[in-house]
Amino acid sequence: MALLKIVKESEDLEFLRRKSAPVKEVTPRICALLDDMIETMRNANGCGLAAVQVGVLRRIVVIETEDGLFELINPVITKKTGEQEGVEGCLSLPGKWAITKRPQCVTVRAMDREGKEFELTGYDLLAKAICHEVDHLDGIIYTDNVVRMLRPDELEEDN
Ligand code: NI
Repeated sequence: MALLKIVKESEDLEFLRRKSAPVKEVTPRICALLDDMIETMRNANGCGLAAVQVGVLRRIVVIETEDGLFELINPVITKKTGEQEGVEGCLSLPGKWAITKRPQCVTVRAMDREGKEFELTGYDLLAKAICHEVDHLDGIIYTDNVVRMLRPDELEEDN
């Protein structure tokens, strides 16, 4: 396993704006990438990471919340219900936080590392993370649509 370099908005926004391509086949290389992405996400204290954020334009996402660790290959959101408003950040935009509106509950279909299709339904933070990471695969960054950015003085209070 290896720590990967996280692409930052301030260094290469153009790359983060690119659209990721579907994974055709789960190869050992893809599995190694998943392992490295998990290690990189944990090392950065993040709860989600998309492959584009480590320089790979493939539709691959890892998420870890108190609900567990999830690896999503070619994820497609099939259902969104409810609404939540809360604080959101991104490992590619260190030091920035915003209030966002997201669905309360999200269902996503994806492939696992065995190449098997599965469905995952997440609430609250997991729902927010699924939306955030799937957006990355289409070059969308959470700051594109926020209720408002948090000010530096609010960061000290809230985090
Ligand atoms: Ni992000």
